[in-house]
Amino acid sequence: MANEVFNRVAALITEIENATAETPEAVEAFRIRYLGSKNILKPLMGEMRNIPNEQKRDFGQLVNKAKETAQSKFDALQAATQDNAGADAGAKFDLTAPAEPMPLGSRHPIALTMRRIISIFERIGFTVAEGPEVEDDWHNFTAMNTPEDHPARDMQDTFYVATGMPAGPDNADMLLRTHTSSVQARTMETSKPPIRIIAPGRVYRNETISARSHAQFHQVEGLYIAEKCSFADMKATLLHFAREMYGDKTKIRLRPSYFPFTEPSAEMDIWWGLESEHDYRITKGTGWLEILGCGMVDPEVLKNCGIDPEKYTGYAFGMGIERQAMLLYNITDIRLMFENDVRFLKQFSGVI
Ligand code: DAH
Repeated sequence: MANEVFNRVAALITEIENATAETPEAVEAFRIRYLGSKNILKPLMGEMRNIPNEQKRDFGQLVNKAKETAQSKFDALQAATQDNAGADAGAKFDLTAPAEPMPLGSRHPIALTMRRIISIFERIGFTVAEGPEVEDDWHNFTAMNTPEDHPARDMQDTFYVATGMPAGPDNADMLLRTHTSSVQARTMETSKPPIRIIAPGRVYRNETISARSHAQFHQVEGLYIAEKCSFADMKATLLHFAREMYGDKTKIRLRPSYFPFTEPSAEMDIWWGLESEHDYRITKGTGWLEILGCGMVDPEVLKNCGIDPEKYTGYAFGMGIERQAMLLYNITDIRLMFENDVRFLKQFSGVI
């Protein structure tokens, strides 16, 4: 009887020594069987009362040996499967395989158009100036000679920003700039003539969104101030721009217009032609397309920004970008440019 129990423990030790487990699940099964709270070695101690006294000590030692063997076997199995897992993970990567091609993004049509315009003016000596999109009332309107009661200041047109502070000399009304002309004021305040800058950027107006207009859009502003700068200088520069942008045969015309910050003021059209029905539609049957507003900087504006109007004259212009991007790339709905649908955007990959 006692011998039979001894033999059972000896057989268990052999079983433990020979056990294998290749997966973490098998190692766990081993742990539950030999080391878990209901492991099969536990009941053996209960056999102690059936063992003759002189053999009790040997039996206790044998059962302990079984426990120790189970523990050290478990440690070994666990270490082995962890190594295996590491080796397996390594095998999943074929380090000699050719790399997956990385899909390249593309520039946004607005960025493409803006870059083209910037580079035309940079080549003739203009540098890029910037200003904040959240602007104060003074730089956006007052400095630009836009009177208090001008309709552009209306809440209907301008997004004012709630600052939580009463408006006053130290707390200006804040707004999302309605044009990049505010950068003219900022530049004149901080630099001395000659000034030759362009200011590209985003502007905001409270417009109803449709296929042709949006509440956010982009402009490029230009400002040139020097001694004896004339309207003819402006016209030559803008003709140069139009030809670089739309081809060297491009014709322009300047139509008298009104802006509070220029005197005289004009709008520039380019001759688009009337060859197709599409041309008729986009030029409203005239063949001419308006591209920008411009004029000689009003002496009031120079004065507001600390430049002597007796000594200096200058011209300025401002153009919308979306409109030109739509012309260049045959885009029929301005909203496409703000939806960021990849099916639209990826059509510009490779365009520079
Ligand atoms: N700021 C005008 C607008 O947003 C465009 C403009 C017109 C800018 C004439 C100028 C300018 O600098 O001289 O409609």
